[in-house]
Amino acid sequence: MRNIDFMNIQFKSNSFTTGMFCLLITPLFVGCNVNKSLSEPSIKPDETTAPANIEIWPTLDIAVKKDNVIEAKVASLLATMTLEQKVAQMIQPEIRDINVEDMRKYGFGSYLNGGGAFPNNDKHSTPSDWVNLAEDMYQASIDDSLDGNKIPTMWGTDAVHGHNNVIGATLFPHNIALGATNNPKLIEKIAAITATEVMVTGIDWVFAPTVAVIRDDRWGRTYEGYSEDPEIVREYSSAIVKGLQGAANKDFLGDKRVISTVKHFLGDGGTEGGDDQGNNLSSEQALFELHGQGYVGGLTAGAQSVMASFNSWHGKKNHGNKYLLTDLLKEKMGFDGFVVGDWNGHGQVKGCSNESCPQAINAGLDIFMVPTDAWKPLYENTIVQVKSGEISKARIDDAVSRILRVKFRAGLFNKPSPINRTLSSKIELIGAVEHREVARQAVRESLVLLKNKDNLLPLSANQQILVAGDGANNIGKQSGGWTITWQGTNNFNEDFPGGSSIYDGIKQQVTAQGGNVELDVDGNYQIRPDVAIVVFGEEPYAEGVGDLENLEYQQGVKQDLALLKRLKADGIQVVSLFISGRPMWVNAELNASDAFVAVWLPGSEGVAVADVLFSNSNGSTNYDFTGKLSYSWPSSADQTNVNRFDDDYQPLLPYGFGLSYDDVNILPDDLEVMNVKASESLQSITLFESSIKAPWKVMISDADSSSIMTSSVIENKAVYVRTIDRSVQEDARRAIFNGKENGKIAFISNYATDLTQYNKANSRLEFTVRLTELNQLSEQQGLYLSMTCGESCQGKVNITKQLSLFEVNQWQTLSIDLQCFENAGANVSKITSPFSLTTSTPLTIDFTNVYIRPNKVDKALITCQ
Ligand code: BGC
Ligand code: BGC
Repeated sequence: MRNIDFMNIQFKSNSFTTGMFCLLITPLFVGCNVNKSLSEPSIKPDETTAPANIEIWPTLDIAVKKDNVIEAKVASLLATMTLEQKVAQMIQPEIRDINVEDMRKYGFGSYLNGGGAFPNNDKHSTPSDWVNLAEDMYQASIDDSLDGNKIPTMWGTDAVHGHNNVIGATLFPHNIALGATNNPKLIEKIAAITATEVMVTGIDWVFAPTVAVIRDDRWGRTYEGYSEDPEIVREYSSAIVKGLQGAANKDFLGDKRVISTVKHFLGDGGTEGGDDQGNNLSSEQALFELHGQGYVGGLTAGAQSVMASFNSWHGKKNHGNKYLLTDLLKEKMGFDGFVVGDWNGHGQVKGCSNESCPQAINAGLDIFMVPTDAWKPLYENTIVQVKSGEISKARIDDAVSRILRVKFRAGLFNKPSPINRTLSSKIELIGAVEHREVARQAVRESLVLLKNKDNLLPLSANQQILVAGDGANNIGKQSGGWTITWQGTNNFNEDFPGGSSIYDGIKQQVTAQGGNVELDVDGNYQIRPDVAIVVFGEEPYAEGVGDLENLEYQQGVKQDLALLKRLKADGIQVVSLFISGRPMWVNAELNASDAFVAVWLPGSEGVAVADVLFSNSNGSTNYDFTGKLSYSWPSSADQTNVNRFDDDYQPLLPYGFGLSYDDVNILPDDLEVMNVKASESLQSITLFESSIKAPWKVMISDADSSSIMTSSVIENKAVYVRTIDRSVQEDARRAIFNGKENGKIAFISNYATDLTQYNKANSRLEFTVRLTELNQLSEQQGLYLSMTCGESCQGKVNITKQLSLFEVNQWQTLSIDLQCFENAGANVSKITSPFSLTTSTPLTIDFTNVYIRPNKVDKALITCQ
């Protein structure tokens, strides 16, 4: 048995202090209390106080050099272009908002599909559907009949853990897991495979790598980062860029490679409180030493694009920060590719809107990422602003030269059209076995063993094994956000052809060795098991939807803990496999587990987890645990910002921790467990805020059918529903009822909720709504809000009158007493759908923020008490 350096730490019951790590664990974890300069300064958010010391930043020795031939081509092409053509190069609309004819007419320099956007709005689009769209867009872009312009467009996509928008693609573990492998060679391979699968679909450009160095794990994008420390991030960034683009002077942007994007520039992982799109208050030294290192790695390797970040630095939004985008990135560091904006990020710059933002161009943004229908006014306004001198012609020429330079470097003027490219017809490469093998290796190397009492692992496969937990046979859950859909929600195992769940792997290993497996999500077994493997953890999320208040796992009802405890109480040994996008405070779950593995978000190859868990029939092991934490593990729910080299570093488990089979376990069974007080008063129930909350799903119905919304758009004979942006992406829904027949949009769940207590407490259903000018509401035709309580049980309330009093085009809040639904026939003790809108009138309605709120002092708008 090997004793790792910090083994001799004494764990005292309920009073374990980890500060001792700093004393005991050198040289493995060098230098607690160093790098003091990185601590956060006490500067207040204020646009005028952002420090500016350009000398901190290096001039990079970038692997891709300027080429005179290309520069001459850029200059001569630019000289032939009209202002309209130039501005079109700078506009990047989204496939849900333009069609091929728009491309023909305007000749956009690029376009994107956001997470969860597919050709024909069909989640199950085949690789051929993708290539066909790429081909049509490309042909329209080089058709000069309307815009006089033959410049090929390019398609950008978020292939952030494999080609994750495409059904059947190889899905690698998310970045947090790759950080734990600390294997840059493997990462380069992963990137090369991603490039291959992306090229099969005719797409030219990938919005990766994310090089955020994440300091506060409450951030919903923690899993998109490799580490809390710049060391791994810098090295990985370089490896990924090489893997995606090919190495300079070798196969750089050859037939199997795609353009990469280092994102999000700059400081995205260091916002106050881990707020998505928040404010970074780092000193400039910290900005460089922590958040800038991924750019040092990636740009040196030759990344051709950089994405500006939504965040601010000292109160100023990066999209409008000339110092960051121009002085520092382009001039000092020497980046000669282009800067693309993030999803209407320009609209957040002071004085800007999605439709108009000369400030961003003047600051150094080269391409507006402008999803939604804002692209057209933005295009028109930008042209006007150049004509009026608000944006200089020189700035436009610089931006367009950068875009053309990258297009020439990528060979877009010479490559065959998307459908005729080397990889385009090779559909067998999507999810190819060799690709999955590499993903499987990544999964194995990413698992971090946190606890292994009495060396329970590796398990013998020749026994009776119970597999429990809702993550066990759930490829969607194990893949996290940015998986087919943007949020990664609403995916089922059938959506992952060729993929496997964690349970699949366990079953294979165990049956091959003569053991027996029983699968039961709730842990109810028929045959008493020798050991139970429980797979549980976070539900998928993306971006701000995943922001947390603190790091406590399962706040409120601790169902998974109850399951672990129940098994323990039965005298069964428990192995916990924890699915998560970040380290979380799981002391109680650790205490209730004999072995505990952080499996992160492994992606489509769940089968690989079992490669490591089990020994061979002769007792030897195939794969030991090698993963090490690239994020410190918190010792309390509030320890959200605990990072290697902190002054007072007291994590539960430090950066670099990870047991191997031979190591002695260090975590005791009685880690401190705070008493989280159950709230005495009724809490609001959130049905929809940023995203639709579990267990509710959106369903639409017409006279004949009902279907669940599993991507960002859905339609039937009566109603069309899509996600729209109110304050942040996809935080609202638009329902367009066509009036041809009665249509319905409802939030439903598989089981009933008892709202009796809420009704007694004078609660109301509340939601925020906006009607467009076109709506002519008459009470007879009617829009109804209902609560349903199973088959033919409902309470239906006509809300037309109240809505007609609302101003058009304004978001306003409508509240209605639960009692109204009961009066109208609902049985509030068994509500299966707490919110549904129905009408047979043509009507467009936008809505968001749906809650059930207990007894507020003010009255509901529609009262029935
Ligand atoms: C889009 C996603 C996109 C995301 C960007 C969402 O509204 O549907 O496709 O990637 O916003 O934040
Ligand atoms: C995200 C980016 C992504 C873009 C396009 C944004 O909201 O911040 O990371 O590349 O959407 O989907």
